[in-house]
Amino acid sequence: MDATHQTMRCGVAGLTPPSVVQLSPDHRWRGANLRSEKVRPTLAKIEEHRLKLASDKSPLATGDLGVAGIFDEGCSISDAVGVSKKKMNAEHLFSYTVLTEAKCCVETGTNVGISSSYIAAAMNAAGPDWQLHTLESSPYRIRLARDCTRI
Ligand SMILES: C[S@@+](CC[C@H](N)C(=O)[O-])C[C@H]1O[C@@H](n2cnc3c(N)ncnc32)[C@H](O)[C@@H]1O
Repeated sequence: MDATHQTMRCGVAGLTPPSVVQLSPDHRWRGANLRSEKVRPTLAKIEEHRLKLASDKSPLATGDLGVAGIFDEGCSISDAVGVSKKKMNAEHLFSYTVLTEAKCCVETGTNVGISSSYIAAAMNAAGPDWQLHTLESSPYRIRLARDCTRI
């Protein structure tokens, strides 16, 4: 792990993003950028899905999956998606994932799967051999994330 990669990891963690992103000398751009025809339809579908969830005022925890998560009480589906990374930050996450050529990512806090879907789209655009491990305590958020990550 060189200094360049450490800087980029800080950006992903939500700290001050680097103003200059240096690529390692052997970096290979795989065409998986935000404007690529290969990924644009997928990212558009994620955003359509976000809008659909944002308009859903029904309760998140419906009781059928057992005990609600610690943040689920009194929360609607719309409230839940409201804490997901906004489009611009999710696009940064996508770009960092592409630039680091990540093949395996761990996300702490899936929520409804918006950022998970951006990370997955970035790794998937570079090839089929990747893994995303994402952790979430709420079964109700996991159910929604399953729908989102099927996009
Ligand atoms: C800010 S949200 C994550 C947003 C998501 N990464 C996105 O941008 O779409 C944080 C999530 O972490 C979950 N969470 C908080 N504490 C947790 C814990 N101890 N174990 C597992 N999940 C946890 C919450 O339920 C919540 O869904």
